[in-house]
Amino acid sequence: MKVDGQHYRSIWLEDGERSVFVIDQTLLPFEFRVRQLRSTTQTIDAIATMVVRGAPLIGATAACGLFLAAQEDPSDEYLKESASRLLAARPTATNLGWALERMLPQLLSEPITDRVEAARLEAQNICDEDVGINSQIGTHGLRLLTERCHLGQSNEPFNILTHCNAGWLATVDWGTALSPIFKAHDAGMNIHVWVDETRPRNQGASLTAWELKAHDIPHTVVVDNAGGHLMQHGQVDACIVGSDRTTRSGDVCNKIGTYLKALAAKANDVPFFAAIPSSTIDWAISDGISEIPIEERAGIEVTHITGVDEKNQPTRVRLTPEGSQTANPAFDVTPRGYVSGIITERGVCEASETALLNLYPEHIQKQQKNQG
Ligand code: MRU
Repeated sequence: MKVDGQHYRSIWLEDGERSVFVIDQTLLPFEFRVRQLRSTTQTIDAIATMVVRGAPLIGATAACGLFLAAQEDPSDEYLKESASRLLAARPTATNLGWALERMLPQLLSEPITDRVEAARLEAQNICDEDVGINSQIGTHGLRLLTERCHLGQSNEPFNILTHCNAGWLATVDWGTALSPIFKAHDAGMNIHVWVDETRPRNQGASLTAWELKAHDIPHTVVVDNAGGHLMQHGQVDACIVGSDRTTRSGDVCNKIGTYLKALAAKANDVPFFAAIPSSTIDWAISDGISEIPIEERAGIEVTHITGVDEKNQPTRVRLTPEGSQTANPAFDVTPRGYVSGIITERGVCEASETALLNLYPEHIQKQQKNQG
């Protein structure tokens, strides 16, 4: 995606450089700053503090983290220990484990002297593949939107509500939920996006709004509680969200508050889609509510809020009485019955095990082996 006319990915490696480059997402939308990650520890910190965030980007960052680890010490012991430390940085997004499971065995199978180069190549592959996959999600999602737009047959904008940030910043490029939106806008469709602010960290207000504005896509930021009202009044034609972990049966785990939007969508007959790369599917689990680990984050994200003052200076203010207890579950699960369809890189399917296996038949055998 372009920032001030220059093309950026959210993470990249540079030829001859031994570090990893990322965009510091904690500073947006106020400041665009590129940061260099130079060690495994800095990479873990960047994931945990959400300098980088969004399931696909977390996976890509973990892969690049192993490239840094291999430079520090390419031994079996150190690479295994680094992979466990990276895995513990955030618990919910499947992509983190997925990327490490892909990288580690491959690195361990290489001679010690070749491991840095092998890690660099595989991390680069993971990043490049993510871009292609998300572009495909956009193409399939665009088809879906075009059909629905034509059903409406009106000159009014097609209104899409999204939660959190599942745009290019959450991936290596394109995004998942926003990929069809970018492509629809580029194809000349009359699209308007309702952007949930997404408390407590405001990824919608800070990141999604910033991305849409940069792409000249009409959008309106709303408080998280507004979605039900908008749907009741016919102002939402479809919801599209991302996912951090999707069960093989189609339950979707995404940013806290997503479930409430799905409930409101069901009650008001608004289609509710999840856009996901297959790296987000956890084929080992079926019941999202009981089986997905939900990250619990620090209470300070609830008690305080960060922005800029009238002089554009970063400021953090407290919202709650001192000493009030807080709870901060970062994700929730939307059961498959509330999901109208899943948009993947291989096409759109219903939220069910049969439909997902139909798109990803290579997992049928693995399923049978697990059951037998
Ligand atoms: O806590 P975050 O900002 O990492 O949460 C991100 C989300 O919930 C996204 O919707 C999800 O990762 C899908 S991103 C393509």
